[in-house]
Amino acid sequence: MRLRDELLGIVPDDKRDLVPSHFSLVGEVAILSIPSELEDQKKKIGESIISSHKNVKTVLNKVSKLEGEKRVAGFEVLAGGGTVICHREFGFAYRFDVARVFFNPRLGHERRRVASKARPGERVIVPFSDVGPFAIPIAAAGARVLALEINAEACRWLAENSKLNRVNGNVDTVNCDAFAFCGVLKQNGPEMKFDRAVVPTPYGRDEILDSISPILKPNGAIHFYTFKKRHQIEGLIKEYEEKGFEVEFHRRCGNVAPGVSRWVFDLEKL
Ligand SMILES: C[S@@+](CC[C@H](N)C(=O)[O-])C[C@H]1O[C@@H](n2cnc3c(N)ncnc32)[C@H](O)[C@@H]1O
Repeated sequence: MRLRDELLGIVPDDKRDLVPSHFSLVGEVAILSIPSELEDQKKKIGESIISSHKNVKTVLNKVSKLEGEKRVAGFEVLAGGGTVICHREFGFAYRFDVARVFFNPRLGHERRRVASKARPGERVIVPFSDVGPFAIPIAAAGARVLALEINAEACRWLAENSKLNRVNGNVDTVNCDAFAFCGVLKQNGPEMKFDRAVVPTPYGRDEILDSISPILKPNGAIHFYTFKKRHQIEGLIKEYEEKGFEVEFHRRCGNVAPGVSRWVFDLEKL
């Protein structure tokens, strides 16, 4: 049932069309964006969601979009309590505070696809690693993972999640700016080169590809995520080829704005 139908008799009929059609569920936390016209109804909406959805313990209203380099949105609690949740994905568990770190619950299939390519003993670098949803399944496949993350709080959760999923022996986490850290790694010898990189690029920061390329071994793989319009893809493939990569695979993996999608490119460094 659509959320606005569930609120029959709770929100006045002339305002029900303003109720969002759905909420996102991350662990036991429901997240929605309530328009300002429903300011005086928002607590009732939160309580109603909790009473009609047994799996929801907290309802958050997203009051600002993802902001700053940590990509954390602003939230207010409408009903329930805690914002620390446990999200389960393909046999892995991730604990984190939804109000303080970035997490995208929609990339689960993509994370599983990429982790299935990792091999025991590989060295893998994961910049922008947030609380570990790429790093941890790859470490569980037996690879040795270096995770780079600028948000200290996300790093703490990543360390906790590595223990929770019993892969802490295979994950090193560095709280740093990935651009600067890749520059430092570039100064090192071949012992600091990687077999694989998984790059969930923040919006508009595609220049990270030029920082990753020098620290990749020949024939190394990059799973590169970028936000683009469909008409840009052909030119992008040419650009990657000119940079010395073979484009082995690409596909759309989610919408982010009208006409703009998240795309993944599996690249091989030639
Ligand atoms: C994975 S990216 C976001 C990617 C993309 N928007 C998405 O939806 O998949 C977000 C993570 O990158 C981290 N981050 C952003 N800029 C960073 C930087 N310069 N160095 C390291 N981590 C960074 C943020 O703290 C956050 O945890």
